[in-house]
Amino acid sequence: MEQKKWETHNPTGSRRVIVTKILPGSLWLERLIKADCKVEVCTSTDVLSVDDIKSAIGQQCDAVLGQLTEDWGDELFGTLEAAGGTAYSNVAVGFNNVDVDAATGHGIPVGNTPGVLTETTAQMAVALTFAAARRTGEAERFMRAGKYKGWLMTLFLGELLWRKTVGVIGAGRIGANYARMMVEGHKMNLVYYDVYPNQELEDYIAAYGDFLKSRGEAPVACKRADTLEDLLREADCVSLHTVLDDSTHHLINAERLALMKENAILVNTSRGPVVDEAALVGHCRRHPDFRAALDVFEDEPAMKPGLVDLDNVVIVPHIASATRWTREGMATLAASNVAALLRGYPVWNQPDILPFLEADAPRAAPSVVNADDLKLPIFGSR
Ligand code: GLV
Repeated sequence: MEQKKWETHNPTGSRRVIVTKILPGSLWLERLIKADCKVEVCTSTDVLSVDDIKSAIGQQCDAVLGQLTEDWGDELFGTLEAAGGTAYSNVAVGFNNVDVDAATGHGIPVGNTPGVLTETTAQMAVALTFAAARRTGEAERFMRAGKYKGWLMTLFLGELLWRKTVGVIGAGRIGANYARMMVEGHKMNLVYYDVYPNQELEDYIAAYGDFLKSRGEAPVACKRADTLEDLLREADCVSLHTVLDDSTHHLINAERLALMKENAILVNTSRGPVVDEAALVGHCRRHPDFRAALDVFEDEPAMKPGLVDLDNVVIVPHIASATRWTREGMATLAASNVAALLRGYPVWNQPDILPFLEADAPRAAPSVVNADDLKLPIFGSR
């Protein structure tokens, strides 16, 4: 096995914490050092395998900050428990790479990083929607190839989304934020699909519609679709904001793509396997006016054969949460989870996670997904 490079901070710390990738900013490290941790960071850009991580954990390790690219299942949590580990945090809000039941079985709390990705990820979904609608990828490749010979009325005609219908699948924090950006910014009507109604979003859009009416403008509408199929038939652009689990694997497949409008746009900033990527390649080949914009891929970092050759697909390398503020915030929240758990602090239970980004953070772990199952103490309760 190839040896990965590691860099050690605070070598005299009494608690050994492994960080499987370089993290941005410095507050995350300060927080771990303040909790008396010796911090070992892998400086390789390669995705670490289970074996790489097992050998990094070794005989003694108190906690790990891991990545969504890693397979955190029974084997790794067993290794961490055997090494005396008592805490893990994903440096991500999504945790489909983590077998939470396995972690719970080994008595290990699993942290994640909600609340700092919302606007950043929603903005990227908006950017991708318009990159697809206005064909900016194709146009840029054309310019760089020196093909521009002057203004032409028929060059790169795209789709005008103004006052059309936006479809949002998964109306949680990020989906609802994207919906509002599209409705407020582009006066689109919203149709959303979610197992739970989002009353706050519906009320907001109703009030915004009233505001537009009061100014003599046409209102906007919002409805929760009865079925996914209804949404796909109706929407001019569709953005995916679901978690990845068994119920959402290949949620968008060949049959459902076939229901979408010929010139619709599909955006995925959630997780790659939510879309059957091979089916999408086939669909985009057969429907040149259909467009897709993908931040995530089914076999990341690989792409399904043929995807890269399609001009009607925009592709970016899983960067939807990649603003400096958000990525530094994610690192800080993950480190705060681990530092707090190692110190025996309770788990935060307030919706506002932002106090953890301040130098003087609450004495709590910001977000632990199996806190209830492990019966961890909750902040503010006795
Ligand atoms: C990024 O994709 C995340 O889940 O944090």
